[in-house]
Amino acid sequence: MKNVVLVLDFGGQYKELIARLVRSLNVFAEILPGNTPIEKIKEIDPVGIILTGGPKSVYAPDAPTCDKRIFDLGYPILGICYGMQLMNYTLGGKVGKGKAGEYGQITTRITATSKLFNGFGSPPSSTQTLMSHGDSVLEIPPGFKQTAETDNCIAAIENPEARLYGVQFHPEAAISIAGERIFKNFLFDICGTTESYKLKDYIDEQIAIIRQTVGDQKVLLALSGGLDSSVCAALLAKAVPEQLTCIFVDHGLMRLNEGDEIEAAFCNHDLHFIRVNAEDRFLSKLKGIIDPEQKRKIIGEEFIRVFEEEARKLGKIPFLAQGTIYPDIVESGGAYGATIKSHHNVGGLPENLDFDRLIEPLSMLFKNEVRELGRRLKLPLAMIHRQPFPGPGLAVRVIGEITKEKLDTLRIADSIFREEVEKLEPKPNQYFAVLTDSLSVGVKGDARTFDPVVALRAVITDDFMTAQAARIPYETLEKVASRITNVIPTVSRVVYDITGKPPATVEWL
Ligand code: XMP
Repeated sequence: MKNVVLVLDFGGQYKELIARLVRSLNVFAEILPGNTPIEKIKEIDPVGIILTGGPKSVYAPDAPTCDKRIFDLGYPILGICYGMQLMNYTLGGKVGKGKAGEYGQITTRITATSKLFNGFGSPPSSTQTLMSHGDSVLEIPPGFKQTAETDNCIAAIENPEARLYGVQFHPEAAISIAGERIFKNFLFDICGTTESYKLKDYIDEQIAIIRQTVGDQKVLLALSGGLDSSVCAALLAKAVPEQLTCIFVDHGLMRLNEGDEIEAAFCNHDLHFIRVNAEDRFLSKLKGIIDPEQKRKIIGEEFIRVFEEEARKLGKIPFLAQGTIYPDIVESGGAYGATIKSHHNVGGLPENLDFDRLIEPLSMLFKNEVRELGRRLKLPLAMIHRQPFPGPGLAVRVIGEITKEKLDTLRIADSIFREEVEKLEPKPNQYFAVLTDSLSVGVKGDARTFDPVVALRAVITDDFMTAQAARIPYETLEKVASRITNVIPTVSRVVYDITGKPPATVEWL
């Protein structure tokens, strides 16, 4: 890949935001650990390097660091927060406790002309930035000058001859109102790169790579019907239509009609789509199991067994394709150029599966890019905007022992809730029903009943790491409760979960 911006990570929570923002400006960005060997950096030969923030002080004994020689390679470098402090400290400046830490939106005054602040007006000018730091730059290194300040800190430094720049604030965060402008200035004016990364090209590149890698051999894809594996299927179908087989293991834990919908969406394409109906197998393995982690483990293992059996029936297939995406790779330690990888660990398939190689054509893409690829590959909109659905399916939404009857009850309650929520605009990011193991008294006709409680859950979230309960209109909740208790006589009551994450999780199990 040409024109790569390298994002060197020092533990900053915004590393993915940085890479996504760079990519949104049509320049490819790759995240690697801060201590990546210099030889590897030279091999990549980036057009520029961005050093991320991080939670440590540069003086901490275990402070993350980088090879000092990167500052001598001539690459333009932008240090952000910890990245600026690290550059400052490494090149002979001083970092320490300043007048005060700064957290939140802070006014930054631009005090000198700088290419980084092109478009901000003649200095002095000011802008709002996100600050989140305890330590500050106290003295700048030889050859550097200060270009911005706040009431409490040196907010930007630079050595323009060496093309080294640092900002104490976070231009990648939306709270920094002209943050994108700073990235544009860095990429196009300072690094001198051009818009060169287009998803349209990604499709063509991947098709060429897949064809070259696979030759005339066969590929197998485990298709779940989720966004990632569906986009992966569409890409493979374009690249090697006659050599592809897709196996969809229906574990009987899907939502209402979902298995049929997945089959309908895929069976008429060049995918050699195989649906394996394995509900009985899964339900018998899950009989009597209450513990959520045990449920997950059993489902994961059974999935592998079913998949292996089906794969074996097809004879030797050298290539296994997976819909692994970039955050999976970044979180597992990072891997440059990981288009075709040799590990079997992401996606839950075992090491000893009998495949020679793994193909992961989406392994360099963020979720928003996978969605965009799906649009370009003309996948149905419903699939592109499908809310996340856990691999173990409804097994983690039935509290207590799983039975077919309970699953059927939940499927109906869940479909009613989803139908009503889908009328709302904007919609929450994830919304579903849970069948609890609480029984409560109800009155149906003249009789008192003692039946299960259904809980509704809907959350607003960006990343699913934290979430807020969605403020669903009361009328919608009332309608859902009425419909569920009328359509399903064995549900006594419906409750709405208003807990955030943390302290709760999105799923109940
Ligand atoms: P939690 O419940 O951990 O969920 O707050 C965060 C997101 O992850 C999904 N989730 C899972 N996805 N297998 C999956 O593939 C699982 O076992 C699993 N558990 C939770 C959940 O739906 C939410 O989107």
